[in-house]
Amino acid sequence: MKTAITEMFGIEYPIIQGGMHYVGFAELAAAVSNAGGLGTITALTQKTPEALANEIARCKDMTDKPIAVNVTFLPTVNAPDYPAIIKAIIDGGVTVVETAGRNPSQVMPYLKDAGIKVIHKCTSVRHALKAQDIGCDAVSVDGFECGGHPGEDDIPNMILLPRAADALDIPFVASGGQADGRSLVASLAMGADGINLGTRFVATQEAPVHQNVKDAIVAATELDTRLVMRPLRNTERVLTNKAVERVLEKGRALGDKIQFDDIIDEVAGIYPRVMQGDEMDAGAWSCGMVAGLIHDIPTCQDLIAGIMSQADQIIADRLAKFNAG
Ligand SMILES: Cc1cc2nc3c(=O)[nH]c(=O)nc-3n(C[C@H](O)[C@H](O)[C@H](O)COP(=O)(O)O)c2cc1C
Repeated sequence: MKTAITEMFGIEYPIIQGGMHYVGFAELAAAVSNAGGLGTITALTQKTPEALANEIARCKDMTDKPIAVNVTFLPTVNAPDYPAIIKAIIDGGVTVVETAGRNPSQVMPYLKDAGIKVIHKCTSVRHALKAQDIGCDAVSVDGFECGGHPGEDDIPNMILLPRAADALDIPFVASGGQADGRSLVASLAMGADGINLGTRFVATQEAPVHQNVKDAIVAATELDTRLVMRPLRNTERVLTNKAVERVLEKGRALGDKIQFDDIIDEVAGIYPRVMQGDEMDAGAWSCGMVAGLIHDIPTCQDLIAGIMSQADQIIADRLAKFNAG
């Protein structure tokens, strides 16, 4: 399938694996790219820029296809060494960067000089327009249903995607709630040129996370996510568990007075403990409502081939029938 996104990134299918903390390692990124999509290594999961350089090299040993690196700009006092991270990405020969969090204006000149395509992930049309203004090549539009940080506007993709299509000149992919060929066709119909998936790729064979994390996503329904950190304006959609219920209880008790320190035990440093350590209740970890559509743990190859064949079938059979009257 050819779209503006497949052409821009040099990939076979318009399917991207979004950056995911302690999930987006070389094994997963390579598996997605080898299956014809665009796999993404998550920069901030690597403890140092040197470790990121090694992870990129490890990924490139596993695939000759394009790969991306996610760079998340965190609202933090102890900022990571972003210049060194960008240098590792450029020196590593990566061709696509997915940025998220704050807009990437500070690093754009370096990425553009290196010929790297930049896709910025954002949750509102105004942020997408800002990304377009500062020279991003594409945006990933993350609807309210997404796993991770949906922003504070709460606009679901049924509205957000057509709004983005009307407002933007650059291509965009639909992110949040994407699971299968139906998601792809619907997103294309609403003006997107591809899809970005997070939670769906956690429940794959190659995702280097504990089997219990994958099983939890398969067992979950669309009713099992919660929004945490809303009073801190750092809303995150997570799978509910005991720690998440504690965070929400503290929110009810403390109201607007709640501080990050009040919930630090449930949200700081928990990803390695959950993803690799099998401490499923250690804290709040991102998961989308799309868990309700995830019933298996396929290989990335089978998942992507399945999405494409279902999309082809919907377009050729179901939609063509309506068109014929
Ligand atoms: C476990 C997990 C960790 C994530 N970590 C990050 C991250 O570090 N940076 C980022 O930009 N997005 C992160 N995301 C968001 C995904 O890249 C993607 O935008 C989102 O999952 C899409 O929604 P979906 O889960 O409904 O597919 C994460 C998502 C999940 C499920």
